[in-house]
Amino acid sequence: MTLNIAGAARFDGKVALITGGATGMGFATAQLFLAEGAKVVITGRSEDRLKLAAERLDGGDRLLTVAADVSKPADLARLTDEVRERFGHLDVVFANAGVGVFKRIEEFTEEDVDYVVDANFKGVFYTVQSSLPLLRDGGSIVINASWTLHRGLAIGSLYAATKAAAANLAKTLASDLADRRIRVNSVSPGYIDTDMFRESVPTTEAREDSAAQSVQKRVGTPEEVASTVAFLASDAAAFVNGVDLLVDGGVVNAIPA
Ligand SMILES: NC(=O)c1ccc[n+]([C@@H]2O[C@H](COP(=O)([O-])OP(=O)(O)OC[C@H]3O[C@@H](n4cnc5c(N)ncnc54)[C@H](OP(=O)(O)O)[C@@H]3O)[C@@H](O)[C@H]2O)c1
Repeated sequence: MTLNIAGAARFDGKVALITGGATGMGFATAQLFLAEGAKVVITGRSEDRLKLAAERLDGGDRLLTVAADVSKPADLARLTDEVRERFGHLDVVFANAGVGVFKRIEEFTEEDVDYVVDANFKGVFYTVQSSLPLLRDGGSIVINASWTLHRGLAIGSLYAATKAAAANLAKTLASDLADRRIRVNSVSPGYIDTDMFRESVPTTEAREDSAAQSVQKRVGTPEEVASTVAFLASDAAAFVNGVDLLVDGGVVNAIPA
């Protein structure tokens, strides 16, 4: 293995698929991969958000946007066709798209359960499955899980269980795909300042409470997750496989002093 020389782009010539890439952590990851030489495909359900993201990313012919719902295998089949046609293959998959519905258990409806399981578990499963024919041997898959799978949050029963299932895929798929030298890992972000965080933690007071749970006394940035995803996808993590990496400022493992 050759180590990256300072200044060389880590992902030159590589192709990365980032689901939920129009906003938040997916967007920050798309920005970083483009800056480091990759060709990038971003997906999401909203055409408008994808259009806005494409304008901001300014990736020229190295950027492809495809409207697709990860919980719908037919959408993913169309996505695969478009990626094949445009870039021919994939080297990296960041299964990042996800949704959150946070309530006490008595309040969940059947629609809530279907919505969250469809996006956060089935969506990740189908994203990986549908991308495999395009993913080159030696490629890398990163799944976006959550700190909530490591520590109980009263309103997180549905969300956390889907994230635990998604993170579990990293372990089993690391084994399942080892014959193709495909590494599979997950990241578990803590409180990260994105649309999802602002929607589920709507008041300033509640956001300050979230920040106070970290020993670093702040919430994280999408860029801090993006750089971790890039590390896991890069040759620097060549022997990192089947792990879940917390990016949470210590929320799970350290008690604020
Ligand atoms: N923010 C946090 O504190 C936090 C902490 C831990 C983990 N996470 C996880 O991090 C990931 C990214 O979230 P974020 O915080 O960056 O929030 P975000 O900005 O809301 O990003 C979520 C993205 O996923 C897309 N998406 C949702 N459902 C989809 C579906 N069925 N098909 C395709 N795309 C879909 C959304 O686009 P459309 O709406 O256009 O489809 C959106 O771009 C999620 O998996 C989330 O669970 C977030």
